[in-house]
Amino acid sequence: MKCFKSVLDAGDLNALVQEILEIKKNPHANKHLGENKTMGMIFLNPSLRTRLSTQKAAENLGMKVISLNMNDGWQLEMEDGTVMNDDKAEHVKEAAAVIGSYCDIIGIRSFANLNNRDDDYREEILNKFITHSGVPIVSLESGTLHPLQSLADLVTIEEFKTKPRPKVVMTWAPHPKALPQAVPNSFAQWMCKADVDFVITNPEGYDLDPQFTEGADVIHDQELALSGADFVYSKNWSSFSDYGRVLTTPRNWMIDERKMAVTGDAKFMHCLPVRRNVVVADEVIDGPNSIVIQQAANREFATQAVIKRMLEAL
Ligand code: CP
Repeated sequence: MKCFKSVLDAGDLNALVQEILEIKKNPHANKHLGENKTMGMIFLNPSLRTRLSTQKAAENLGMKVISLNMNDGWQLEMEDGTVMNDDKAEHVKEAAAVIGSYCDIIGIRSFANLNNRDDDYREEILNKFITHSGVPIVSLESGTLHPLQSLADLVTIEEFKTKPRPKVVMTWAPHPKALPQAVPNSFAQWMCKADVDFVITNPEGYDLDPQFTEGADVIHDQELALSGADFVYSKNWSSFSDYGRVLTTPRNWMIDERKMAVTGDAKFMHCLPVRRNVVVADEVIDGPNSIVIQQAANREFATQAVIKRMLEAL
């Protein structure tokens, strides 16, 4: 594997999930694979889970890990042929190539800025690192997708499902801030390729980019969508059509016990961080059907499988 930026880089999903479950049984089985190799992690945005799970995964494989927070440094120039006489001190061509000279694999996190849809959906920084770094690149969440999260989500569903083809419902949730569409786009893209019945429910105006939701049922009545669900995945996102805007914040889209009662005793999922009693009621996230901690724990093993495949291909 040379690059991991979407489900399209994952190959056979069932094989990858089984590989992750094997890694989880014995995370140190391949501790010599990454000996004398360096994992670089670049963050343009904050992270708790992705940072720590990626570091742990690389160290389980015997790699050294270096990380750089680029949000408190200078801005990178992305355009070719620019006269660089403004506030951007370094071109991405040099920055990516230099980091690539120190690292065998690079992970990079760069959120959407939600100002301009075309800019965000072009994934410029991720693609420039793929072009100029000279080493394999892992997305640690980009403007449009969060594939490591979705892979961990898929493994978690595999662990907790009680029937061969469960019903998985991703529901929009209220939130006080405008959030990117990366997690829901990505979850939709993976679920549309997984062995599940996948439903998305959101208020009018919050439909996701159709390139990621082909094959999903989109239902604007939340209770109808939740009926009989085996998994409820709650997440806020801002509007794609009225790009980056919070159109309405209907508080009654929060997942509470009354909503969960219409499901088929569903497990509750969220990528975290989550705002309690805005996105999900305490009674649900603290209840016996909440699997958010197991979901976050699986980030380590999902990422380890991706890094392992990259090391094997070096
Ligand atoms: N879910 C997730 O990516 O968490 P972090 O933003 O803390 O990395």
